[in-house]
Amino acid sequence: MTKLAIIGGTGLTQLANLNILKHTQLSTPFGVPSAAYVHGELNGRELLFLARHGNPHTIPPHKINYRANIWGLKELGVTQIIAVAAVGGISSAMEPAHIAIPNQLIDYSYERKHTFFEGDLQQVTHIDFSYPYTESLRTDLIAAAKQAKVPVSNNGTYGCTQGPRLETAAEIRRMQQDGCDLVGMTGMPEAALARELELEYAALTVVANWGAGIVAGEITMAEIEQHLHKGMANAALILQAFLTESKN
Ligand code: HPA
Repeated sequence: MTKLAIIGGTGLTQLANLNILKHTQLSTPFGVPSAAYVHGELNGRELLFLARHGNPHTIPPHKINYRANIWGLKELGVTQIIAVAAVGGISSAMEPAHIAIPNQLIDYSYERKHTFFEGDLQQVTHIDFSYPYTESLRTDLIAAAKQAKVPVSNNGTYGCTQGPRLETAAEIRRMQQDGCDLVGMTGMPEAALARELELEYAALTVVANWGAGIVAGEITMAEIEQHLHKGMANAALILQAFLTESKN
């Protein structure tokens, strides 16, 4: 049976309308997850919610214990993860407040604990990661967006930077040349760790701002917050449609 988890990012520390049933505070072999896992019910479907940056939002992207977060979800029986995340827009369709469901990623992050396969291993394991997001889950999210009448990009390449600073204009230009459509700081190693534990994983990304240098001027927190507010409201509509559709 499918058991769904939603990981909320910046702008989604709590799920509105979630009927909370209980909280589970876990400790894993890899440390403590970002927050207590929230068990709840939304649109008649049970799910788990985790605030990636903690609740309140205090953990920066490079300090998140991605391994503990994903391990804990597996331990709680989760089979499917929808990862909600704020991003910067690089390609022209990715304007602020727009939503994209990426199909590819490039990892530019470093010095993060990025695998469960280390230490006393019986064998060396190389997971297949050609297609980093679960296609069937992406398809269901795209259908939910259509149902909710929220326009989304059905594809896109997500570039994961280290943060917490934003990028330079030259870094964004390089990412553009690499084929990145979106830039964020939390997509990896989260997606790879989910794959290592054989969990379905797809991302719902909300564009908060244009990537550095795409338009003139600096990136302000006020701008980010304003666009995220609008974008996350639309992301919530998609999630609600997804839950309604996948209930039967
Ligand atoms: N860069 C990286 N991560 C982000 C951005 C950005 O411009 N906006 C929101 N998350």
